[in-house]
Amino acid sequence: LATIATSEKLLAWYDVHHRELPWRMPPRDIAKGMLPDPYHVWLSEVMLQQTTVEAVKPYFRKFLDTWPTVTALAAADREDVMKAWAGLGYYSRARNLKACADTVAALPEARFPASEAGLRALPGIGAYTSAAIAAIAFNEPAAVVDGNIERVISRLFRIDTPLPEAKPEIKLRVEEIMPRSRPGDFAQAMMDLGATICTPRRPRCMLCPLRDDCEALSKGDPEFYPVKPTK
Ligand code: ADE
Repeated sequence: LATIATSEKLLAWYDVHHRELPWRMPPRDIAKGMLPDPYHVWLSEVMLQQTTVEAVKPYFRKFLDTWPTVTALAAADREDVMKAWAGLGYYSRARNLKACADTVAALPEARFPASEAGLRALPGIGAYTSAAIAAIAFNEPAAVVDGNIERVISRLFRIDTPLPEAKPEIKLRVEEIMPRSRPGDFAQAMMDLGATICTPRRPRCMLCPLRDDCEALSKGDPEFYPVKPTK
């Protein structure tokens, strides 16, 4: 059964096998008490919502080169932001991005709110993004749940409820096993595990740091999870 001890194994794996990503602060720097810039975390999470990591990388760099701060993005022409977004798709994200930058820039000190609830109130920031920014940029013990994490948790606990009904149970399980000391590393370790080991098809269970605790693996059917809704 997966517990906090399972998460300690995941973090030990992440310390060695984390992906180096342009918006990510490596765990050795997080351990020294450093945290990534909330603007970088927010920009990357919005871009990553419907776009792959590889496709996001050049856009993330171009945006930071052009608008190094949220204040700079707020001062930009809306049309220039839309043009820079061209190719990423889902253009409502770019409109919301600009609206959010404008709102943050107008706050006292022009800084992102440091709490999940404060972030959630900003334009275009939903439950996933507010939890991700709170955990990654502010070290708040927020339960982050994206598609990768849903898959990892569904398999670990062999959750037989189909999606989306399983979402509340998945969130409770994340809260149960999340180590309060490293919420941002934990969220990103789950994402990396889902992207590289606990993949939708043919998961690499023999390489998985959580293999001894995975109920789906012990029953031999990890690929069956998460259970899809019957149409
Ligand atoms: N996908 C969405 N957010 C991510 C992150 N912070 N790291 C890796 N993949 C992600």
